Amino acid sequence: MASGQRPGGQQTKVCQFKLVLLGESAVGKSSLVLRFVKGQFHEFQESTIGAAFLTQTVCLDDTTVKFEIWDTAGQERYHSLAPMYYRGAQAAIVVYDITNADTFERAKNWVKELQRQASPNIVIALAGNKADLTTNRIVEYDEASAYAEENGLLFMETSAKTALNVNDIFLAIAKKLPKDGEGAGPSQGGVRVTQGNAQEGSKMGSCCNK
Ligand code: GTP
Ligand code: MG
Repeated sequence: MASGQRPGGQQTKVCQFKLVLLGESAVGKSSLVLRFVKGQFHEFQESTIGAAFLTQTVCLDDTTVKFEIWDTAGQERYHSLAPMYYRGAQAAIVVYDITNADTFERAKNWVKELQRQASPNIVIALAGNKADLTTNRIVEYDEASAYAEENGLLFMETSAKTALNVNDIFLAIAKKLPKDGEGAGPSQGGVRVTQGNAQEGSKMGSCCNK
């Protein structure tokens, strides 16, 4: 396993993971990524065409995790493209909007599709986004939490608008991913461990995004 020398003399290893966001259009996938990567929120975020690619790193105790993020388009006409993005992904965030029951049903279908067709060891997180819109809530926390538990998913309610749980959900995924290559064989794209310091390769030029 390769390792890098941090300025403090501390050893750190750098792991790269492919992560895909899936979910109905307008649930806030791009907004979550924008919040995580750039710390911004746009009230009038444009609907994604095809997919967008961004990177961001998070620091764990002895590991820097670099996410290669594929933000897919939720509009139905792009559905057939999704396998291109979740194929070989080590992690997925399936997003729904807590104010819209249909988006929760759609999220469940994405989870089923991932369980059938994505890498067997993929780490899946369910994000109930727009948690700031509490007065318009339709999907109860307990219902989604129970569903996530039954299906072995990480679960958090998030808000790209207020930043609630946005870094936390990526961090929880980073913690759950295998850092030693176990369970992530070459057929999945593997876990690439590269040499370098914690900031290498980050678009943001920052590391611990907490
Ligand atoms: P597609 O690209 O079409 O698949 O949509 P998307 O899932 O990427 O949604 P997007 O991030 O474009 O957000 C849709 C709308 O919801 C935008 O107007 C955002 O400003 C808004 N939005 C996103 N996240 C939140 C949130 O947490 N709270 C609130 N109140 N609005 C949000
Ligand atoms: Mg989008």
